[in-house]
Amino acid sequence: MSTLAFYVHIPYCVRRCGYCDFNTYTPAELSISGDLSATSRSYIDLLLREIEFARETSTASVVPTIFFGGGTPTLMEAADLGRVISTIGSHFELDPDAEVTTEANPDTVTKEKLAQLREAGFNRISFGMQSAVPHVLQALDRTHNPENVFKATTWAREVGFKEVSVDLIYGTAGESTCDWEVSVDTALALPITHISAYALIVENGTKLEAQVKRGEVIMPDDDQTADKYLLADEKFTAAGFNWYELSNWAKPGSESRHNLAYWNGDNWWGAGAGAHSHIDGRRFWNVKHPAAYSQKVLESGNPMHEQEILTLEEARSEEIMLQIRLATGLDRAALSGDEQGSLSGFLSDGFLDGEAWARGAVVLSKTGRLIADRIVREILL
Ligand SMILES: C[S@@+](CC[C@H](N)C(=O)[O-])C[C@H]1O[C@@H](n2cnc3c(N)ncnc32)[C@H](O)[C@@H]1O
Ligand code: SF4
Repeated sequence: MSTLAFYVHIPYCVRRCGYCDFNTYTPAELSISGDLSATSRSYIDLLLREIEFARETSTASVVPTIFFGGGTPTLMEAADLGRVISTIGSHFELDPDAEVTTEANPDTVTKEKLAQLREAGFNRISFGMQSAVPHVLQALDRTHNPENVFKATTWAREVGFKEVSVDLIYGTAGESTCDWEVSVDTALALPITHISAYALIVENGTKLEAQVKRGEVIMPDDDQTADKYLLADEKFTAAGFNWYELSNWAKPGSESRHNLAYWNGDNWWGAGAGAHSHIDGRRFWNVKHPAAYSQKVLESGNPMHEQEILTLEEARSEEIMLQIRLATGLDRAALSGDEQGSLSGFLSDGFLDGEAWARGAVVLSKTGRLIADRIVREILL
């Protein structure tokens, strides 16, 4: 039976964080009032129309996972988000054990809102914690009080979320190793089952990039950032969170099934402004701006902007790139003799796991994870 994971994009944030280049808009940018309830209703109506279009287009039957990302999905009314889940359930067969996740900004939830989200069908929630240290949050241009993360994760468990995750960012300018350790320890003291930790990327066109260019912000060097990754990995592992993807750790059985579907190259439909989809080697993506998205959906139900069909070679490169990031690694037999040969230096230098290699898998060692991109480039040269 063929499956289709759903990603649902909500392109709204109260304000834009200085480092973020996600496809998201503030009410002021869209000239809408601070009250987003009308926007919530109308944007969700468009998503429902796109889901009908997905039904007409796709042959898949079962939906194993749904992931609401943003932007800030929790700015929408819980009942409106619930309409998306039930519409997916009425047009497709929603796996009774489906993983249904929303991203959340710790500032945008109350206990009541979390209970409404559970009621609407969510069973997993991922909070953007980023750091527990006020000056680091300030440097990241984040608005939330670090104490809100403890409250939000505790409420989430109290109202019945089985899976609770937090996102952390390391490598912010001015973040000492000691600051990072505080963030890691604070995260580990939360009632959570999953952690993502990302090195801060200076994205083009962001306020952060402008600050770096003007010399107002000096980014830390790569060695310091690598040490922070190793420190986090050590602490997460000691606390029972197993590494399973470059930037992700989970308690046994709490790995994100939705993200694993991406990394394993499964089929997914991305609904919403600017969302990307992948079905059987065809990639397509929607128009980015919510106004253009609205216009296209209202005209035809189809908000697609462009598409590309992956050549066999492109599909293979993508598979190598994604699978090598996983703790399960890449099947060595999927590589040619020459490609395997190109890895011998990395193997002897300890960047690849020798035991895994002996049983036929290419798995990054801890230090190998720090140079994953270089290793992939070497294979694909
Ligand atoms: C869409 S946001 C998460 C939900 C919510 N909007 C929030 O920020 O709390 C997804 C995650 O991407 C990560 N992220 C965004 N921009 C990043 C950047 N420039 N470098 C590293 N991580 C980034 C952050 O950790 C963030 O939590
Ligand atoms: S709240 Fe999240 S999506 Fe919105 S601007 Fe900040 S990091 Fe980006």
